[in-house]
Formats: sequence, structure tokens, C-alpha cells
Amino acid sequence: MQHDATAPTPPDLFTWEFATDPYPAYAWLREHSPVHRTELPSGVEAWLVTRYADARQALADQRLSKNPAHHSEAAHGRGKVGIPGERGANLMTHLLNIDPPDHTRLRRLVAKAFTPRRVAEFAPRVQELTDRLIDGFAGRGEADLIHEFAFPLPIYAICDLLGVPAEDQDDFRDWAGNMLRHPGGRPPGPGGGQAGGPRGGVARSVKKMRAYLADLIHRKRADLGDDLISGLIRASDHGEHLTESEAAAMAFILLFAGFETTVNLIGNGMYALLRDPGQRHRLQQALAAGDTALLATGVEELLRYDGPVELATWRFATEPVTIGGQRIAAGDPVLVVLAAADRDPERFADPDALDLSRRDNKHLGYGHGIHYCLGAPLARLEGQTALATLLTRLPDLRLAAEPADLRWRGGLIMRGLRTLPVEFTPEG
Ligand code: HEM
Repeated sequence: MQHDATAPTPPDLFTWEFATDPYPAYAWLREHSPVHRTELPSGVEAWLVTRYADARQALADQRLSKNPAHHSEAAHGRGKVGIPGERGANLMTHLLNIDPPDHTRLRRLVAKAFTPRRVAEFAPRVQELTDRLIDGFAGRGEADLIHEFAFPLPIYAICDLLGVPAEDQDDFRDWAGNMLRHPGGRPPGPGGGQAGGPRGGVARSVKKMRAYLADLIHRKRADLGDDLISGLIRASDHGEHLTESEAAAMAFILLFAGFETTVNLIGNGMYALLRDPGQRHRLQQALAAGDTALLATGVEELLRYDGPVELATWRFATEPVTIGGQRIAAGDPVLVVLAAADRDPERFADPDALDLSRRDNKHLGYGHGIHYCLGAPLARLEGQTALATLLTRLPDLRLAAEPADLRWRGGLIMRGLRTLPVEFTPEG
């Protein structure tokens, strides 16, 4: 049952019902407990920040560190935060768990290689990958859009961009699939859901991916090409270069940060469009007329309305901090709930409505401040290409399951569907 906004007690968080539709619970928190202390499924206690203004402030607050060493429990070895398989690995230093000045230096170097121009030049390849994947099911009249489309597209795209040879890309698909099957986090749902599945499988896949990338970088150093890994090796700033292990950590974080997020942008976005025929037909008409403006604002709106990243990644108070009138002690973890902030009626008009032409839309789906998503141009390219091509090639696409029967994956940070069964008239 959904939580009533007028209920006197806090909602149950991280249950199966919450995973299916967290928005009523977030509305309650924004209203009654906007900076809310809770115990996460892992046992770690954290503060959830749910109002837009507080969320934006927290994302930009440099007293909130990304380094897990600042977690009060880290000193006791009890902290369970970060990427599975990361603990003890020698490739720990990546953008999402470091602060300035290291963050500034690494981000500047990677930005020299991962440029908007490189992404723009990649557009024809993304279109090719998109069409190839749709070719695989277009003649059948039915498909699971997560497994056959949203999942493989970002993994092949980022592998191509990085310069992972074609013959090795299916290994990445397997490792990435393992990460999605066992995200850990929420308790299992009805019907045999394995949302709280073992993290061991994830950790093993993460380790294999990292080892492969370290080896690939070592080999590329001797034979530089046009790919992004070669770009990372070449990048220099005032005579400084990435070390081999920094380049490997960077390649890994590009893969890790850019994979499940984009799967969910395509999955959640398509699901929202299939449930809102009015908005979807508007978009189809605009596309048929060659007008791509609605596609651009529409993908931003889909990110705001039901974005892939439900909670921004961990932050830890380095000193006592007050957010939204609540004092947070040094060492406490803070999770900024992007999904709640982006439905805040104090910031967005009619926030629970999907409006593809929304203009005043400074959503937090890509974060804010110095950790603002580095891959946003690539995510936009993939999201826009995927949705436009699906809606154009399969114009009568429809859901082949009741929304109540769909299952959501259970990671803490991400929000995404396990499957998205659809039907359509087969392509002739
Ligand atoms: C950071 C969202 C796709 C690479 C972030 C953050 C968010 C985000 C919210 C900030 C996290 C925080 O502050 O804790 C998204 C969404 C995507 C997406 C919604 C898809 C729709 C991508 C892609 C890539 C990427 C495709 C790269 C290939 C990164 C990196 C960071 C980051 C490297 C860390 C930046 C830093 O710490 O300086 N992303 N992302 N993301 N994202 Fe994305």
C-alpha cells in the first residue's frame, strides 16, 4: 500500500512497495522530515535529503566529502559503502570517491580526452548500434526492451568508445549482466525476486573488469589509437599525465557510472512514455515532422520525472554541518535523494505530471557541483537516439504486462526495471 501524505508516521523505506513507487514516501519525507535519519538495508545509518533546495546545497557543499575514509564507521571497519569489490583493490582512486585537489586534477585530465566533440563524432556509431539491436527483435512483434535493448546498448557503446576490441565486448556484456542481476540493497520481492541477491557475484565481475582494463591500458600504451583509452593515456595538463593505474580506474568508472544509469534512462523513459499515450503521441508527431526540440526537452523531463539515479552517491560530513535546519555530525553519511528533489513542488510546477516540453527544468538527475555527471553528453546522445529510433521504427509499441506485475531492480542508488515486455506490429 502506498504511503498517505497526511499519515503521522514515517513511511517504511526500502520495502518492495517502495521500490515499485517511492514517490508517495518521498512526498511524505519532503513534507514532514526533509532531512531524515534512517537505517539502510545494509545496516548503515544515513541522512536522506529530499527537498530540492537542500539537495542542491548538499551536492555543492565541500564539507561533505566523497571519500569513504570520512565515514565514522570506516574507522571500525563496519562501513559498507562504495562499489562492491572496491575494498582493498588498488584502483580505488576514481572521481566518485575523491575530493579536491585530487578530484580537480583527475577531472581536468579526463575532460581533455572525454570531450563533447568526441561524443558528437560518436553519434553515427550509436545510431548503428541502436538499429542493429532493434533489427534483432523488430520482426518478432514482441520483445523485452530491457534485456534485448536498454541493457546491451550502453555496454557496447562505452566499450566501443573506450576502444575495447569487438571480440572482448561480450565478456563485458556478461560481467555487466552479473552486476545487474545481483545489485544488492533492498530485500527480495514477491515472486522470487532476488533484489537483495549476493554481492559476491558483483564483486567478482567488477574485479575481472578492472583487471581487463588495467591490462588493456598497458597494451595500448605501446600502440596508441583514436579511442578514449588512448586519449586518457595521452591527456596531459601542465606536463602532468594520468598514471597507468589512474587511467585504469578512470576507464572503469566511466564504464561503471555510464552503464546502469543509461540502461535505466532508456528503460524508465520508455516505460513512462508507454504509460502516457498523450505525451508519447506528441513526441511521435514531432519526430515525424523532423522536429527534435521536443526530443531534447523530453529526455530531460524523463530524467526529472523518473530518473535512473534515485540517490546520489555517498557523501560524508567532514565536520558538523547543518542542512535544512538539521545538524549532521562529523562522520555521518548523507544521501541526497535526487528522485525526491526532482518532484519538489517548491521547485517544479505540477511535479508529478510528465510534460515533455517542460522548459524550467533544472533537474538534479545528473547531480550538481563539482561531481556533475561527466558523461551527460553521451547519456543524452544514447537516450535520445534510443527513444527516437524505437518510437519511429515501432510506432505502435505497447506494454505487454500490467504495470503492477513489473518488477524493479533493487539497488540502493539506482532505480530501474528488471524487464519491460512490449508488443508491436512486426516490421515488414
Ligand atoms: C557522475 C547521473 C550517465 C560518467 C554522475 C552523478 C550523477 C550521474 C547523478 C553525480 C553523482 C554524485 O554527485 O554523487 C547520470 C545519469 C546518466 C549518467 C542519470 C544517464 C542517464 C553517465 C555516462 C557516463 C557517466 C554515460 C560515462 C560514460 C559519470 C562520471 C561521474 C558521474 C565519471 C563522476 C563525475 C565526478 O565525480 O566528477 N552521473 N550519469 N555518467 N557520471 Fe553520470
